[in-house]
Amino acid sequence: MSCRNNLRQAADGLVCAVCGRKYPVLNGIVRFVDTQHYAGSFGFQWKVYAQTQLDGEHSRRSENAFRRRTGFCPEDLAGTLVLDVGCGMGRFAEVATRWGAHVVGIDLSRATEVAARNLANRKATIFQADVFNLPFAPQSFDYIYSIGVLHHTPNCERAFKMLPPLLKPGGRIAIWLYSAYNRWYRFSDLYRKVTRRLPPQVLHKLCYGAVPLYGVHQLLRKIPLVGRPASAALAYVIPMALDRDRNWRVLDTFDWYSPWYQSKHTYEEVFRWFESCGLEQLHVIEQPIAVQGRRPVSVTKISDPDKSEVERCVG
Ligand SMILES: C[S@@+](CC[C@H](N)C(=O)[O-])C[C@H]1O[C@@H](n2cnc3c(N)ncnc32)[C@H](O)[C@@H]1O
Repeated sequence: MSCRNNLRQAADGLVCAVCGRKYPVLNGIVRFVDTQHYAGSFGFQWKVYAQTQLDGEHSRRSENAFRRRTGFCPEDLAGTLVLDVGCGMGRFAEVATRWGAHVVGIDLSRATEVAARNLANRKATIFQADVFNLPFAPQSFDYIYSIGVLHHTPNCERAFKMLPPLLKPGGRIAIWLYSAYNRWYRFSDLYRKVTRRLPPQVLHKLCYGAVPLYGVHQLLRKIPLVGRPASAALAYVIPMALDRDRNWRVLDTFDWYSPWYQSKHTYEEVFRWFESCGLEQLHVIEQPIAVQGRRPVSVTKISDPDKSEVERCVG
């Protein structure tokens, strides 16, 4: 969105009514970016694990995670317009649409193609777009959430501050980020300097190491007294997902070692970001680091009317 003017429908996509720039539709998705940039590993990940984390008859894991990371419930979202920032393959959008919302999902990667397939029969619209340059008018959405996404951008704070201006007055936003409080990830931060440079296919194969290593953890934990500390020490030196489900374990281990950017955050800093965007009713949600806030119903007097709201937020 270079000039931020209205778009109109053309035969093969959307066109800016003023500058004439075209945003093509490819495989049914409007593309507001030309490439996946640094998010190629996510495009790979969500193609391989297109449905692993999608709720179904026998699992409500994503729904539970959605509640624990946003604090939203079905009564909140029913009949509302919701923005899912970094929707991945669409597992949380699936929950929100099941609860009666119309979800607009955006993602920088080609995971959007998977999300569009997973949500084909739902009230959902998916765009490939960058959080730093979103194609939406201010005050468009009733709710916004972003789960496990903003810490994968080059500037988490700035990425967050793109979002509150898109809320309608009284609208709510919730984000979930990696926590900086417990530094168990020291070693993986070191390894990631190498692993993020590997071709995704190669790294994915390496992540299958999480399958036997899980067995080692299980065995260690059975040894009285020393077993649990030994397992904890192993997890400290080789951090990996310890999910009971084998596919989730390999997926989450890949998700941990592949991203180009992966920052960690504290409640103190996230509260500061929310406050500097004028959000109110801030509160912590169950699973750290998760914070929800509300855009005031009546907007307070603007100190610098020449700046856009994003510019005022970013400072
Ligand atoms: C760990 S995945 C989380 C996906 C989904 N929210 C979930 O929890 O299943 C992070 C997602 O953020 C997306 N992402 C990273 N940087 C982005 C950006 N600048 N704009 C939009 N999406 C971005 C990636 O493509 C990826 O799909």
